[in-house]
Amino acid sequence: MSEPTIEDYFVEDRTFPPPPAFVADALVTDDSLYREADADPEAFWARQARELLTWSTDFHTVLEWDLPDAKWFVGGELNVSANCLDRHVDAGLGQRVAYHWEGEPGDTRTITYADLLDEVQRVANVLRDLGVDKGDRVAIYMPMIPELPAAMLACTRIGAAHSVIFGGFSPDSIVDRVNDGGCKVVITADGGYRRGAASPLKPNVDAALEHCPTVTDVVVVRRTGTDVDMVAGRDHWWHEVVPAAEPTCAPVPVGSEDLLYLLYTSGTTAKPKGIMHTTGGYLTQAAFTHKVVFDLKPEDDVYWCSADIGWVTGHSYIVYGPLANAATSVLYEGTPDTPGRDRLWAIVAKYGVTQLYTAPTAIRMFMKWGEQEPAQHDLSSLRVLGTVGEPINPEAWMWYHANIGGGRCPIVDTWWQTETGGHMITPLPGVTTLKPGSATRPLPGVSLQVVDDVGEPIERGGGYLTIDKPWPGMLRGIWGDPQRYRDTYWSRFPGRYFAGDGCKIDDDGYFWLLGRVDDVMNVSGHRVSTTEVESALVDHDAVAEAAVVGATDDVTGQAIVAYVILRGWAEENPEMVEDIRQHVAVKIGPTARPKRVIVVPDLPKTRSGKIMRRLLRDVAEGRDLGDVTTLADASVVDAIRTAAG
Ligand code: PRX
Repeated sequence: MSEPTIEDYFVEDRTFPPPPAFVADALVTDDSLYREADADPEAFWARQARELLTWSTDFHTVLEWDLPDAKWFVGGELNVSANCLDRHVDAGLGQRVAYHWEGEPGDTRTITYADLLDEVQRVANVLRDLGVDKGDRVAIYMPMIPELPAAMLACTRIGAAHSVIFGGFSPDSIVDRVNDGGCKVVITADGGYRRGAASPLKPNVDAALEHCPTVTDVVVVRRTGTDVDMVAGRDHWWHEVVPAAEPTCAPVPVGSEDLLYLLYTSGTTAKPKGIMHTTGGYLTQAAFTHKVVFDLKPEDDVYWCSADIGWVTGHSYIVYGPLANAATSVLYEGTPDTPGRDRLWAIVAKYGVTQLYTAPTAIRMFMKWGEQEPAQHDLSSLRVLGTVGEPINPEAWMWYHANIGGGRCPIVDTWWQTETGGHMITPLPGVTTLKPGSATRPLPGVSLQVVDDVGEPIERGGGYLTIDKPWPGMLRGIWGDPQRYRDTYWSRFPGRYFAGDGCKIDDDGYFWLLGRVDDVMNVSGHRVSTTEVESALVDHDAVAEAAVVGATDDVTGQAIVAYVILRGWAEENPEMVEDIRQHVAVKIGPTARPKRVIVVPDLPKTRSGKIMRRLLRDVAEGRDLGDVTTLADASVVDAIRTAAG
């Protein structure tokens, strides 16, 4: 067996077995799914595909695998909108609520499965009338309103692929994505509500379309009522064309491997990659994981994923997984602090939310805002809590568990990526004993290994997270660039998909995600994960949030530089910085003691909430800053520079 490649120091020994009251009603309570999948993964996934989905033509071959190209459920045909809508309405569930929609200003709409089916058929007919055919691409740039999932499903109804562009992106980003995908039509809105104000979207589309020759038509939802320019012949109001469209549109069966959507992920330097997801395998994995990971009881539950549909989390766990499973979801338009910092908790109480799925960065913000915010509301309806997007530090996990989950809700820490399509490493809430900060184990039917520098699997310790067998929801490539697909994901370790993340396996076989490997520092020959140091920092009472980078150092190779946001009461204390450095040394070991701790008012984040460590490294090493266009708030960088001196 090989040596661990990334050393780990942080030991978390608290454990949380599934509470007996939860297990009593849970869907999955033993390891039978794991055993079934281990014995025959293809048969396991074939069973899920046939049980969870309705196929108009059954598949004849479960998997064709010619590395790095996988085909799942070959020969099968299905329609995604029929799986998400028609079959539920046909089963008598037309009056079940698909979305409890809550606008930021407090306006609400209740959308049943029958309502959504009606809207989707009309929008599908509008798209057809605009010349969209099977295989064409449609760009969608919208706020979090019910017309967004309706637009996505309308594409699937006629076999077109969508490319959702997150509403926070600039005109330049729209241009790149629309042109790369060769989109014919754009669906947008005048704007949406964020932080108490109308935030415009249509002007960004207008600016972008000056450079997008493939787009012939734009459909515009009126949400905020602000003035917009409508280009004659090109732009159409949703509220005029959709109600006027034919009310029925038969779902078009598509091949299991036909393109369902493109979703772009930003690299740090190169142009965004159009991640391709296809139909049958993706929908199988989304539906299966949404059901078992959240212990879904669709007849009783009110499920809420607070992500934006513009990211993969929203695609798989607001739209496709929940609708395929006939779930009732909450859909919220705005920000968590409008009008007050208790908005999320007010929504949980109002709708009786049973599962809440959010991000560690949000949880740390809630911690900073204080436990008095959730304490004002009755959160007793919650049964399962989820996290996604980055490693969750144990202190944030404990806070979430106690203050949101009332100590009774299992937390599913779900590791996955835009590229994986659905969950890959996660607990099953009725089965898995939890350790705060660990995503625990690979799901049934998913084969992951941690490998060393030369690609040899290791059973304990740290290394690189890789995947050696295809899974149904895996990306099928990068749109228009098969070579980049091979180079990015399949070349670092022969025969393996490399996820880009560091990971360690503990003595119990639990997986601990250590962040992206370019976030691993090398201090005096010891590899230290930024995540572990950040965890130790946030474990200090005075620290609200922290980000750590390795800065080039003559003596040690890299030196650890920590940027911390202090809690209000600690800001004036001159001893605090030394105390924090010492705390890390005690918690992890002297190697991990930060050389510098810089107190900052805020951290630079992308619009999806990821900390931009590259910028922090630039500041730490006194360099000019590179590309800052993906920053949510560019003024943060100046404040950090001033603090760094
Ligand atoms: O580094 C991992 C981190 O997010 C990356 C994927 O980002 P993206 O494609 O934007 O998708 C985010 C939503 C699925 C991963 O490579 N990541 C995601 N979930 C976790 C995580 N890191 C640790 N723990 C997680 N639960």
